[in-house]
Amino acid sequence: MNTQPIGIFDSGVGGTSIWKEIHALLPFENTLYLADSKNAPYGTQSEKKIIDLSIKNTQFLVDKGCKIIVVACNTATTNAIAALRAQFKIPIIGIEPAIKPAALKTQTKAVGILATKGTLSSALFHQTTDLYASGITIIERIGEGLVQLIESGNIESDEMTALLKQYTQPMVESNIDYLVLGCTHYPYLIPQLIKLLPKNVNIIDSGMAVAKHTKATLESNNLINTQIISSKNIFYINTKNTQTMASLLGEHRKVDYLDF
Ligand code: DGL
Repeated sequence: MNTQPIGIFDSGVGGTSIWKEIHALLPFENTLYLADSKNAPYGTQSEKKIIDLSIKNTQFLVDKGCKIIVVACNTATTNAIAALRAQFKIPIIGIEPAIKPAALKTQTKAVGILATKGTLSSALFHQTTDLYASGITIIERIGEGLVQLIESGNIESDEMTALLKQYTQPMVESNIDYLVLGCTHYPYLIPQLIKLLPKNVNIIDSGMAVAKHTKATLESNNLINTQIISSKNIFYINTKNTQTMASLLGEHRKVDYLDF
């Protein structure tokens, strides 16, 4: 029946944006989400530290019986996915900034990308950009401070608006028509970004693509849950602030503190 859960982790609450896409596409799949908020942000840490934390999170989910792992974090994916796939036998799905679709669709030949330092400095990100975005001007910006504000529930704050203005201004001046959100926390900033950006700028992220990839991987490995009853969805966070994550999830979802 394949009732074991899909294991999902992020450095914090941002990966819930990916959980929502997965749950919408695969509503009968059981899920187990781990927010390593105690160690957030990952984006400012060394590659070695990001790999160690990603292995620890994956081991936890594997020990809980997960049948597949979704790394709902661009920073963990771009720095640690090879190490995870080398160490664990079950399928591991990652998330990378949607540079390819943006590069294919841009009319102005200028694309903005907002991501963490860890993602923008990773070898995997550079490989993807070299492969798909030659001839396109890429304006990269580190979203310094954004993850911390989201983790503490300050999405609508003046500080957030000021930072978003600061980071997107050079992109607008370079005439971008696509903004790639290269961090799973950032989809929660879309309402603010729409207000700040010119109308012709499209905002894209990789959430839907990851959900489709997860579904295809479950299918090709014969792992789809055939039990068509409402799913069990468990959310763990390792800080005492369970409230921010619960409010991002909505629908009165229960978030449990885990000493991890
Ligand atoms: N959600 C993570 C990502 O997609 C945030 C990284 C961080 O903690 O800095 O990159």
